[in-house]
Amino acid sequence: MAASAPFLSQPSQAFLTHTPPKRTSIKSLAELPGLTSIPPIYIFPTNANDQPFSDAKESIPTIDFSHLTSNNPDERSKVLQELGDACLDWGFFMVINHGVPESMMQAIIEACRGFFELTEEEKQEFEGKHMLDPISCGTSSNVSADKVLFWRDFLKVFQHPEFHSPNKPAAFSEIALEFSTRVRQVARIIVRGISESLGLEGNYIDEALNLEDGLQFLAANFYPPCPQPELALGLPPHSDHGLLTLLIQNEIMGLQVQHKGEWINVNPIPNSFLANVGDHIEILSNGKYKSVLHRAVVNNKDTRISIAMPHGPALNAVVAPASKLLDHENNPPAYKAMKYKDYLELQQSSKLDGKSCLERIQDRTI
Ligand code: OGA
Ligand code: NI
Repeated sequence: MAASAPFLSQPSQAFLTHTPPKRTSIKSLAELPGLTSIPPIYIFPTNANDQPFSDAKESIPTIDFSHLTSNNPDERSKVLQELGDACLDWGFFMVINHGVPESMMQAIIEACRGFFELTEEEKQEFEGKHMLDPISCGTSSNVSADKVLFWRDFLKVFQHPEFHSPNKPAAFSEIALEFSTRVRQVARIIVRGISESLGLEGNYIDEALNLEDGLQFLAANFYPPCPQPELALGLPPHSDHGLLTLLIQNEIMGLQVQHKGEWINVNPIPNSFLANVGDHIEILSNGKYKSVLHRAVVNNKDTRISIAMPHGPALNAVVAPASKLLDHENNPPAYKAMKYKDYLELQQSSKLDGKSCLERIQDRTI
C-alpha cells in the first residue's frame, strides 16, 4: 500500500511504518484514524435495481417453537402448517419461545466480540486454510477467490460432531459448548417439523442424513463501522449450505433477505433466532423449499456482530431428493446426489456468489 493511499485523509503513522499482515482484519482497517473512504477493493459494483426495499406490510413469519414440542395436537398441526408455509413463501422465519436463555445468547455474542478484539498476532494462530479446518478466522470470505472483499471479519468453529474452540478468550470454550448444544437441540426439532411438513416421517431427514453426527458450525461475523456503507457489503448475496441456519445478532440491523425480488430489511424480535432453509433442504425437498438469498449491509456508526449456526448433514452423508417426494413423470429428481463434504469442498473452491454452487448440481439433463 503506497504512502499516498487515497482513502486516508491523514495517513496514519502506524499504517505507514508497519508492514501490515497478509490481509489485515477489517477491524484494524476500520480503526485507522483518518479513514474517510474505503479502499477500491471493497467497492461492490452497484446495480440500480438492487436498492434495499422494505415493505412494512410483509414481514418475516414467526414460528412459536414451544408449539413444535407441544402435546396439544391442534397446536402442533397448526405450527407445522405455519412452518411449511414459512419455508415455501420465505425460506426465512423467526423462532420465538425456543427456551435458550437470553443470558446465554448475550454471553456468546460477548465471547465472539472478545475473540475479534484479540490482537492480530493472537488471531493469526487460528487462521485456517481450508473450509474443513475445525477452526478458522480471517476477513472477507475467501481472500484468494473474492474479487471484491467483504467488510467483515469471521470466525468459524466446528461444534459438532467434534467440539472445537479457540483457547482465547478464556471463557469462549465453555460458553460455546453450552450454547451450541442448546441450539443444536432447537435445530433438530425444527428439522423434524420441516420433515413432517413435507409429508415425510418426522425422523426421515434425521435418519437419511445421519444428523446424530451432523455438522454444526459456529460462524461469527464482525462488521465494524464503514465510512462509505453504500459502497461496501458485509456479505454479498448468498444462500447457506446445510439444512438449517439459526442466527442471532447484537442489536444492530444489517441483514437483508430477498423476497419476491426485493431486499427486505430484517428486524429480528429480541431474543429470537432467525432461521433459514439451507441448500440441502432445497435438494432433499427436490426444490419445494428453496434456500433463499440473503446479504449483510454495513453502516457508518456501529459495530454489528452476528452468529450464524449452520446445521448440516453428517459430512459423509449423501444428500439427494427424498425418493418419497419424487414421481418420475411429474416430479423427477432435479438435483444430483452429492456427499455433503464434497459440496463444501465445491463451495470452498469458488467465490461466494449467489446460489452458484447449488446451480452446479442441478440436474438439467431431465
Ligand atoms: C452468514 C450470514 C448474515 C448476517 O453468516 O451466512 O448470512 O446477518 N450472515 O451476518
Ligand atoms: Ni448466510
